[in-house]
Amino acid sequence: DIYIYLKGIPKLEEELRDALNIKGVIIAPGNCKESDIITKEMGNITFRALKETLQNGDIIGITGGSTMAKVAEQGVFDNIKRDIVVIPARGGLGKDLNTQSNSIAAKLSEGLGGSYRLLYIPDNLEKEALDYMLKNEEINESINLIENINTLLFGIGRADTMAKRRNLNQEKIDSLLDKGSVAEAFGHFFNIDGEEIWEYKTIGLSLKRFKKIENLIGVAGGEEKAEAIMAISSLNTNMILVTDESAAKRILKIR
Ligand code: G3H
Repeated sequence: DIYIYLKGIPKLEEELRDALNIKGVIIAPGNCKESDIITKEMGNITFRALKETLQNGDIIGITGGSTMAKVAEQGVFDNIKRDIVVIPARGGLGKDLNTQSNSIAAKLSEGLGGSYRLLYIPDNLEKEALDYMLKNEEINESINLIENINTLLFGIGRADTMAKRRNLNQEKIDSLLDKGSVAEAFGHFFNIDGEEIWEYKTIGLSLKRFKKIENLIGVAGGEEKAEAIMAISSLNTNMILVTDESAAKRILKIR
């Protein structure tokens, strides 16, 4: 019942925060894979948590994916204009406009009353093409902003799911999994200890920079993402995790 939830979740949050050794954990009751309402709740929590930390001049990076799309969707403009800029943290992925970081960045900035910049770079370009695009002034400006992101919102995925979504060939997928990849975030694949296995070929936030960001909110739910969340949480102790009850309980069980 609801009373047990209200009493139980803060305790679970504290336990999970200590287990993962990160700055904070916020848990939405339930399982987001069973109900879209839970994903919306995670989105809502994230948007509110973000607004609490915002300061003028902030450069907010955001990644793609269905969870981040929900975060942006939940943002309701409160009529306060803010001097912040939102930028996609990495190049685009896939053909679905709603889950691409460019659309998500634009939507989020609308909810925050700020401005946004786009990153017109597709995924998986050959090196020569990338080098050539970097000569473009607008792209260069976006890259500069990415290097100065001080607040990051990002989704966390399973390595196997994301390798398929990124259309990697079977040989590559097998090799990533053989090497122990369990997690994918901002185009990087990691093993359970947070060691980088491989980086997807695109432009944007580097792992080195990620490890230094001061405000970062990672959002992921569903028990199947437990290992992925554990891996990513080991990268930067400043992280705040927004998750659901099913992932939280699974992490505490397997660690
Ligand atoms: O990098 C990880 C993905 O952004 C997670 O995507 O939110 O659709 O599961 P998802």
